[in-house]
Amino acid sequence: MSDAGAFSVPLSSRRSTLHLARDLSQCICGGDLVILSGELGAGKTFLVRGLCRALGLPEKVRVTSPTFTLVHELNTVPPLLHADLYRLRTSREVLELGLLYLRDEGRILIVEWGEGWISELGGDALIISLSVHPRVAQLSCSGARSSKMLAQLRESGQMKKDNATIPDL
Ligand SMILES: Nc1ncnc2c1ncn2[C@@H]1O[C@H](COP(=O)(O)OP(=O)(O)OP(=O)(O)O)[C@@H](O)[C@H]1O
Ligand SMILES: [Mg+2]
Repeated sequence: MSDAGAFSVPLSSRRSTLHLARDLSQCICGGDLVILSGELGAGKTFLVRGLCRALGLPEKVRVTSPTFTLVHELNTVPPLLHADLYRLRTSREVLELGLLYLRDEGRILIVEWGEGWISELGGDALIISLSVHPRVAQLSCSGARSSKMLAQLRESGQMKKDNATIPDL
């Protein structure tokens, strides 16, 4: 992880999380890796839900935590894999999921509890660490592509905002 360009975003309400998700949807591309870290209930899955809606996933498709199924494939544009590696313990278990191959094929990879497995997931990750007390997202990156995403997110946060309201989910 690199501290260069790292910044934080206050997430005082669910709506501010949805704004971050929308900003992320505007700079993310197929093949990108996003790592979500933060304690149980910090809002990782909620952020993914907002991202999926912003990437065109219909309301009727539920976005839930893949804690037991490990990986969900969601029909967003571009398509997205949502993984939760909380229960995995070894590199081998992570590699056997085949996420790296699917990332190379152009899926967005967004991974809860993935901070320990960045190299197994192909590296160059945008890292979003959520905390609850206070509710804040700390954003950092670990490579050239993720550093561009980080810069774009910082810029969209600074342009603040077109004040478009996003409906709560
Ligand atoms: N910025 C916010 N302000 C207030 N509440 C929030 C915010 N973001 C998320 N939440 C709430 O936190 C709840 C729990 O979030 P979520 O299930 O996404 O956590 P999680 O980090 O995925 O947990 P786990 O580690 O158990 O998978 C959500 O139902 C949502 O209502
Ligand atoms: Mg979750």
